[in-house]
Amino acid sequence: MTIPAATRAQAQDLLDFIDASPSPWHAVQTCAARLETAGFSQLDEAERWALKAGDRRYVVRGGSSIIAFIVGSQPAATNGLRMIGAHTDSPGLRLKPKPAEDTAGMVRLGVEVYGGPILATFADRDLSLAGRVNVRVAGGFEPRLVRFDQPLLRLPNLAIHMNREVNENGLKFNKQTELPLLLGISEDGTKAEARFRQPIAAALGVDPGNLLTWELNAYDTQKGAFWGVDREFVANSQLDNLASCHAALSALLATGEPAATCLCAFFDHEEVGSESTTGAGGSFVADVVGRLAASAGLDSEDQRRMLAQSFFISADMAHGWHPNFPAAYEPCHHALVNAGPVIKSNANQRYSTSAETAARFMAICEKAGVPCQQYAHRTDLGCGSTIGPIVAARLGIPSVDVGSPMWAMHSIRESAGVLDHGHMIAALTTAFAD
Ligand code: CO
Repeated sequence: MTIPAATRAQAQDLLDFIDASPSPWHAVQTCAARLETAGFSQLDEAERWALKAGDRRYVVRGGSSIIAFIVGSQPAATNGLRMIGAHTDSPGLRLKPKPAEDTAGMVRLGVEVYGGPILATFADRDLSLAGRVNVRVAGGFEPRLVRFDQPLLRLPNLAIHMNREVNENGLKFNKQTELPLLLGISEDGTKAEARFRQPIAAALGVDPGNLLTWELNAYDTQKGAFWGVDREFVANSQLDNLASCHAALSALLATGEPAATCLCAFFDHEEVGSESTTGAGGSFVADVVGRLAASAGLDSEDQRRMLAQSFFISADMAHGWHPNFPAAYEPCHHALVNAGPVIKSNANQRYSTSAETAARFMAICEKAGVPCQQYAHRTDLGCGSTIGPIVAARLGIPSVDVGSPMWAMHSIRESAGVLDHGHMIAALTTAFAD
């Protein structure tokens, strides 16, 4: 398989993007930095907005969700919006508010399970901490991002000699008692709490007593990699769904002066149901769309005309067919890795795709010169969902759910295709111009 140099570079850029983004807060910071470099400037939700054609702006809510847009040159009432959504969060382990405990001289950090990770994949990885900490400052507090590059934490397996059936029964953890992460040995006179606070305080250059609260996740310090005989696959954490964020952001950055307003919305909390101030089920996207319309002077009649002519692409990863587990897949709907973007359909509206919006995305792929595939889950298995149906229902915009095929969704080390990522960027770039 030959990988064009430009496609290789896009995939390398994806790996760099993920390696720079070990938490949703870092993902938003990475997006904002790339947007700033490309001439986008930040809007504050607390200020009045004045927008004009050609403006390139972005807005952040809660530090972990971001919406970026280019204001179109043509009237929104007759051209609508071109929108792409994705999510910044990934399933994993989050530290509790008071995580440190001393167990027989070992310092362990208690975690909550965030979303639906494959817990067994977190064992024996070189884990560390990344996220956001609120620090006491004169007159109040301020949020700071923190990440540790060196492995601070580990979840060692139990030796097979004490877990003889592990290969027959699978690796199982009791979430309360068997998931706490090992941080170190407690020293005489130093409480577990102090052992936990000290490295974070040192990294932030503050007094340990000034660390107020935190949102920290365990992340895998191993960098992304190409694999396969032609290096035609990528492996990394968080491909679901930072690969879609990267593809959509790349498409927006490749867009010059569009006729219709083009918008990317990347939400936190998809993995836990999206119902939050920053999630797709919250008001963020409706607020931004409403303010875009108000700024263009649209009355409520014209706002509805705008929405009726808009299109929303919900980009989230799809299940690539796994040759070792053929029985897990719907036989007529194999989505093959490196065979192009996948349109996801579900009659029960777990995906927002309709026959009409699927056809529209097919036409976009055709125009972009990329192949596309169709996926349906096995009828006897429960189907996952994503932000597509939520945003479609909130805004009343025709919507399609698409994604690149991948393996090992919700593992800490996921895999996907190099060609697919290039195809997805091409399709989304074409969608912005459609
Ligand atoms: Co996802």
